[in-house]
Amino acid sequence: MPKAELVDLLVASRDTVPVTNPDRPLDGMIVANLFFEDSTRTRASFSVAATNLGAHVLDLLGSTLSVSKGETLIDTAKNVEAMGVAAFVVRAKQGGSAKMIADNVGIPVINAGDGKHEHPTQGLLDILTLAESHNRHDDFDLKGLSIAIVGDIASSRVARSAVAGMRTLGAKVICIGPPSMAPGSLEALGCTVSGDLDSVLPKMDAVMMLRIQFERHDGAKTPAIGDSGKTPAIASVREFRERYGLTRDRADRMKAGAVVMHPGPINRGIELDADVADGPRSVILRQVSNGVRVRMAVLANALA
Ligand code: CP
Repeated sequence: MPKAELVDLLVASRDTVPVTNPDRPLDGMIVANLFFEDSTRTRASFSVAATNLGAHVLDLLGSTLSVSKGETLIDTAKNVEAMGVAAFVVRAKQGGSAKMIADNVGIPVINAGDGKHEHPTQGLLDILTLAESHNRHDDFDLKGLSIAIVGDIASSRVARSAVAGMRTLGAKVICIGPPSMAPGSLEALGCTVSGDLDSVLPKMDAVMMLRIQFERHDGAKTPAIGDSGKTPAIASVREFRERYGLTRDRADRMKAGAVVMHPGPINRGIELDADVADGPRSVILRQVSNGVRVRMAVLANALA
């Protein structure tokens, strides 16, 4: 996204009040959530955002749709478009799904996360939260800030969108994890890559922890807390936690004013300890609140 457009959306998000807008610019419109993959935060906050703007929300959820009978995503979208909806919010397991639908319908399509590819509104809410945490929300100039993104970056659409936006605004981003999750090839995104969290952590202004996305690792299951589970990407979840988990001890070594972020859902006790997730450095619920502001700005930008 060009820098000017990114800053315009961030300014609109910053200035959006997350309560019912008396102007109701989307009054009478229907926004369809077309979700082929599970979601709590993104779907709920798009729904709250659309409702705040006066729209009705139509929830179309993967397992209940005729895609399970063999219908294509494009046919599904075209049929729902024919009913008069104003916009689609699309989440899918396959990268490129939102773009594919957008290329085949005549209404705005907003990407709510496509496979391992992109999650643009998550990137916007992450940047808004980061900028507010470091008092950079006047002009969204992030020069001088260093951000670590830690964990299963190879599986993460959130990381891709965050790196792109943060780099556009001047922040330095370092991706940290074992080589199977933070391969050197990520440097093509404009970040640096490291395997050593402990040496980098004290210099960071923000640390964004990522969940191990077991569902994107062939055949791996999310382990119970305390299990020594493994995935094709790592030999031991316990070892991953020892080297890359943000424990209380590690959080105490972060610099003054540095914040802890996580896009959710959290696997407490694996990538992030519960008392850090709920502790004074955490801006995780602020990220969630900002999700409504960002999605109101994006929907208004697309439709109002
Ligand atoms: N951060 C995020 O996309 O969460 P959900 O999967 O719950 O929407």
